[in-house]
Amino acid sequence: MADLSLKLCGLKLENPTILASGIMGTSRASMTYAIKNGAAAVTTKSISVEKRKGHPAPIIVTYAGGMLNSVGYSNPGIDNVADEFGDLQNAGAPVIGSLTGRDENDFAILAEKAAALDFEAIEIVLSCPHTPGYGTMAGLSTPEKTAAITQIVKQRCKKPLFVKLSPNVMGLVELAKAAEEAGADAITAVNTAGPGMIIDIKSRKPVLGGRIGGLSGDALRPIAVRCVYDIYEAVSIPIIGTGGIINGEHAAEMIMAGATALGIGSAVYYRGIDVFKKICLELEEFMESEGISSLAQMRGAAHEA
Ligand SMILES: Cc1cc2nc3c(=O)[nH]c(=O)nc-3n(C[C@H](O)[C@H](O)[C@H](O)COP(=O)(O)O)c2cc1C
Repeated sequence: MADLSLKLCGLKLENPTILASGIMGTSRASMTYAIKNGAAAVTTKSISVEKRKGHPAPIIVTYAGGMLNSVGYSNPGIDNVADEFGDLQNAGAPVIGSLTGRDENDFAILAEKAAALDFEAIEIVLSCPHTPGYGTMAGLSTPEKTAAITQIVKQRCKKPLFVKLSPNVMGLVELAKAAEEAGADAITAVNTAGPGMIIDIKSRKPVLGGRIGGLSGDALRPIAVRCVYDIYEAVSIPIIGTGGIINGEHAAEMIMAGATALGIGSAVYYRGIDVFKKICLELEEFMESEGISSLAQMRGAAHEA
């Protein structure tokens, strides 16, 4: 049997699949459900300093190549998550707290408060393409901001720190290097692309309530694979490859690009909550058919020796 277990920055994972932020990570119950269905770790919905309502509905639209979402970071705010995200040690697998802020000050507050919460690791999001005031729309996708925010969070919270980057920037490798130099323990690559827009030609209006949305799913995969491939050549910290992984073959592709673990988001919509188990079974089958016994044997295999 192929061995799918791994260690990610000290976290023991039974397999490489991690529930990506924003998909079902809004409550302890929904995260536990994903764990029961095979996720080796789960990421919370991103948490901001203040309570946020998010964008008006509809917030998700699917199309043949993938989906657009304009959720807009709806969450109760960092001061109101302790109850819902309590007792996470007994959730069955590591829980990663996702933090999103507007600037260095926000991230300082979030890091201090998250240090006292039950998360085993922290992910900071510098990369949302469609929420004004956050991520790339707030100018956080520069090497300077990436380094500054990574350092601030690392100083205030001693948990393993993952930095989530955007596929939309030129010079992505510079961002990954800046994060690594500032103390990041891993890179999550990538967030959604775009933003994109779909127009309903009958009403003659954009479909999404927020008008624009981040693109995920199938259409994102080749971009995400390229991003992971480039980052793998530039940094030595692990990469959580995220973007368009729907089945075991996609998982293998992402690992060959250089990913240590795999973020799974849109695939939950396509294939159901047990997609984690399904992807692992398919990955195992692929590895066995190729005579590969461990993930390490496959990791980065697409790079020239
Ligand atoms: C409905 C939805 C909500 C999302 N919300 C967040 C979020 O709150 N924070 C975040 O960092 N990423 C968020 N994302 C991005 C995903 O975590 C992931 O990076 C992206 O969707 C690419 O992976 P996928 O193709 O497997 O979905 C969201 C994605 C979707 C589809």
